[in-house]
Amino acid sequence: MKLIGLVGTNSKKSTNRQLLQYMQKHFADKADIELVEIKDLPMFNKPADKKLPEQVTEIAAKIEAADGVIIGTPEYDHSVPAALMSALAWLSYGIYPLLNKPVMITGASYGTLGSSRAQLQLRQMLNAPEIKASVLPDEFLLSHSLEAFDKDGNLTDLDTFQKLDAIFDDFRIFVKITEKLSSAQELLHKEAENFDWESL
Ligand SMILES: Cc1cc2nc3c(=O)[nH]c(=O)nc-3n(C[C@H](O)[C@H](O)[C@H](O)COP(=O)(O)O)c2cc1C
Repeated sequence: MKLIGLVGTNSKKSTNRQLLQYMQKHFADKADIELVEIKDLPMFNKPADKKLPEQVTEIAAKIEAADGVIIGTPEYDHSVPAALMSALAWLSYGIYPLLNKPVMITGASYGTLGSSRAQLQLRQMLNAPEIKASVLPDEFLLSHSLEAFDKDGNLTDLDTFQKLDAIFDDFRIFVKITEKLSSAQELLHKEAENFDWESL
């Protein structure tokens, strides 16, 4: 199974990136997880000719080729980071790489709530007409993320990594189930293509 781990931040140092790196290593025998960065993308600016930056089309191609995507989001002021919001706007501007794509959301934060509000907001964004991803109902929240890893980058708390293991196993099943939900796929794709916020 080929998965993309989308690092939802433009910070150089990030516990969300650390979590995705941990998953990449820890689940190596279950899936091939490629980490993809959004940190060098320009801020979304709605080019009138709909010409997308090369980096955006590269990320879109990787997502399209993958069986699923894991998005790791920090939380700023109860929201997803501006960098992630901007990346999703690019990834829905005349292109539809996330359509019906199985997505697992993870989030890490320094406090106790572990990015729960950002995750809810991300869920809502992923349901937008030009994104329409298939999002796993379970959520994985990593609270106190600065203290969560040992020096080798492994999660130290047994309950926490057992929970991540279980959710990831469910995600692998979810990816397989989503592949089978193909009856409406062509229609949904046409609907997304015909949808245009600019001519409502
Ligand atoms: C401006 C700002 C706002 C923040 N707001 C929240 C918040 O609403 N909820 C939360 O759990 N953490 C909040 N934090 C703390 C973040 O969890 C933490 O700084 C960090 O971004 C965690 O993710 P990272 O390690 O991947 O960067 C905030 C931090 C900053 C700098």
